[in-house]
Amino acid sequence: MTQPLHLAYRPQTLAALVGQPYVQTALTNAIAYQQIAPAYLFNGSRGTGKTSTARIFAKSLNCLSDEAPTVTPCGTCQSCRSIEWSNSLDVTEIDAASHNGVDEARELTHMVNLAPVLGRYRIVILDECHQLTTQSQNALLKCIEEPPSHVVFILCTTELHKVLPTIASRCQRFEFRALATQVITSQLRQIADAEGIAIADVALKAIARLCEGGMRDALQLLAQASLLSGEVTASQIIELAGGVSESDLLNLFDALANHNTFKLLQASRSLLDAGKAPRLILSTLLQSYRDLLILKAAPSEADLLTSPINRGNLRSLADQWSDETLQAGLTHLQTAENQLRYTANAHVWLEVCLLNLMPQRMPLSKGTSQVVPSHGKQTHGNSTSNLKEVWERVLVTAQPNARRLLEKATLVTLKENQAVVRVSPTDVSKFEAHADKISKLLQKAMQSNQPITIAFKAMTVVR
Ligand SMILES: Nc1ncnc2c1ncn2[C@@H]1O[C@H](COP(=O)(O)OP(=O)(O)OP(=O)(O)O)[C@@H](O)[C@H]1O
Ligand SMILES: [Mg+2]
Ligand SMILES: [Zn+2]
Repeated sequence: MTQPLHLAYRPQTLAALVGQPYVQTALTNAIAYQQIAPAYLFNGSRGTGKTSTARIFAKSLNCLSDEAPTVTPCGTCQSCRSIEWSNSLDVTEIDAASHNGVDEARELTHMVNLAPVLGRYRIVILDECHQLTTQSQNALLKCIEEPPSHVVFILCTTELHKVLPTIASRCQRFEFRALATQVITSQLRQIADAEGIAIADVALKAIARLCEGGMRDALQLLAQASLLSGEVTASQIIELAGGVSESDLLNLFDALANHNTFKLLQASRSLLDAGKAPRLILSTLLQSYRDLLILKAAPSEADLLTSPINRGNLRSLADQWSDETLQAGLTHLQTAENQLRYTANAHVWLEVCLLNLMPQRMPLSKGTSQVVPSHGKQTHGNSTSNLKEVWERVLVTAQPNARRLLEKATLVTLKENQAVVRVSPTDVSKFEAHADKISKLLQKAMQSNQPITIAFKAMTVVR
């Protein structure tokens, strides 16, 4: 079986490590000047090179091809190979997540007292060291405080705050930075070329952005992408990563621009059905609004753009949408994104939020009761199509049971907080029993701060 990319391309020397210049220089110098500390602590987010560096450092210290520790371990001597295969007698790698007991810490304390078998040092790599229980961290502390001169501890963690301060303070600390988009992209390009993976630059950039500074995730995504046929595009990457793609977004923008309620709800439904989280949908949309505003204000700052929509499409959207509408949309999305945290029914909230993004639906200002669409001649907000839209907003906010009932009704007039709803004769009493609730839904749909009185008229429903 061929090795997964992230293992096949694990850096083997300090020089091969990317995006960690400080770590690289400091450890190189430590080896060159033979100033080896008894304990190191590597801290940083996932997939930034901690475990890789710990192994490189162990090989450097114990490589047999040189008389002394070397910055270029050979990779082929018995010591280097046994470290690579994790069966070295001198280098113990412990995953603290699964070995967190105090007994193990004691055993370790005992083991480090023995002289190294093959190499110069006994090295203990403690991965995820924050997972050790406080008790075993304390047992370990003694060991780190006065270690025999042939012992080197390398502690790795993604959560420094969970490491006992007494331990952390005794280690020489190294911060592994989240890797810059640029760093990840160029590393991916080299690996993609070496592996013969056809992939566009924008797609690599998309991977780098999605992985938030972690190289392992980036390589895993690249490996997945390599299974696709043809040159891999940015949309395919976003699709793979479960994100909202460019065509999804363009659909939403299109429905919004055309005030097409049905299409908008349909687009949002299909995103939800595909398992996209409402939060992700809103935040990707928010990025797009932000990009559009950036493009209008500073057309040359392409590096600031973050949404999945490509520049050409962004530019034509930017021409269609006014600054004011975009600004209002952005503000609306920001509020909605926050509110989404507190709502029990995120799907419905997403739909309401999208409907409210329709250009002339944007709340005029805080406190004013919102007049439902009032473009041009439809000044009373009372045209059939507007009333239909309002009612649709009521429907999406209603609970499924209520929705089944409400679907049978039609909003016929809406004036100064008085509404007339037409229902079938047999349903009048049912509707009247829930008048309060329906009135609240209507008020919400209109973003009005005044209660609405509803009259239910019995008529044969003509749809
Ligand atoms: N700085 C880097 N330079 C080059 N490749 C890297 C770097 N960081 C990570 N990688 C790639 O990602 C893989 C995983 O890296 P590594 O195991 O060292 O990360 P880690 O920091 O220990 O992550 P975790 O906290 O999840 O254990 C490596 O095998 C390598 O392919
Ligand atoms: Mg690791
Ligand atoms: Zn070697």
